[in-house]
Amino acid sequence: MKQTTDFLKMKKNGEAIAMITAYDYPSAKHAEQAEADVILVGDSLGMVVLGYDSTIPVTVEDMIHHTKAVKRGAKDTFTIVDLPFASYHLSIRDTIMTSTKIMQESGANAVKLEGADGVLGHIKALTQAGIPVCSHLGLTPQSVGVLGGYKVQGKSAEAAGKLIEDAKKCEEAGAFMIVLECVPKQLATKISSLLSIPTIGIGAGDGTDGQVLVYHDVAGYGVERVAKFVKQYCSIDGIAVEGLKQYVAEVKSREFPAEKHSYTMAEEELQTLYG
Ligand code: KIV
Ligand code: NA
Repeated sequence: MKQTTDFLKMKKNGEAIAMITAYDYPSAKHAEQAEADVILVGDSLGMVVLGYDSTIPVTVEDMIHHTKAVKRGAKDTFTIVDLPFASYHLSIRDTIMTSTKIMQESGANAVKLEGADGVLGHIKALTQAGIPVCSHLGLTPQSVGVLGGYKVQGKSAEAAGKLIEDAKKCEEAGAFMIVLECVPKQLATKISSLLSIPTIGIGAGDGTDGQVLVYHDVAGYGVERVAKFVKQYCSIDGIAVEGLKQYVAEVKSREFPAEKHSYTMAEEELQTLYG
């Protein structure tokens, strides 16, 4: 399993870091079989797995439940778990206790939290407690209500300047990695060159140290609409619905189950039973 220091080395060597989300046992197995460098148990699970229309309803218990399943499926892949909505904004003490519970119960290797303002002390304290922290800047979906929608961030010189400063502060506070979501590629490239910790982009262009996408977006699994930054590599939906349709049709036509799907009793047992 790769460690936080390996990601630093990968950045130094110019080796791109491939991160993918996973939310359960099969998706985690797929991510590991695909040799992703890092798995993220994103709170996007609220949307792509649980069907909420934002990440805000996701709870600490949801994250633990799903991360446990992910770790069973991907024991050998470094796994980051999202701290969900408003679970890391109270005291530093509460944040350490919540993160400890998540890590100990789920087996995750690190936590991810959104933003810089108000949480830099938390990042520092978590790191000091031995909990590696991945930051998440740019479009921070847990703040959708404050940001006024899912929009590209850091487009103005002023907003870009603030993002650069935030990224530096997260690094200084001890973050080992930063996810940059939905920011102009020039800005993401600049931030990546200014930091010594790796940046992982999503909708942030090709100048970051790695990329992350949501499993369901990559695999075409149950998502109706995808963002501009998504590349869908296959369609699980197409294959699955095709297969399920065939199953339903074969049940109705009594083609399924065939002889080879059935168990039989020996003739003498039947004799004994019925005489
Ligand atoms: O929840 C998530 O999947 C994420 C990634 C999109 C970075 O935070
Ligand atoms: Na997330």
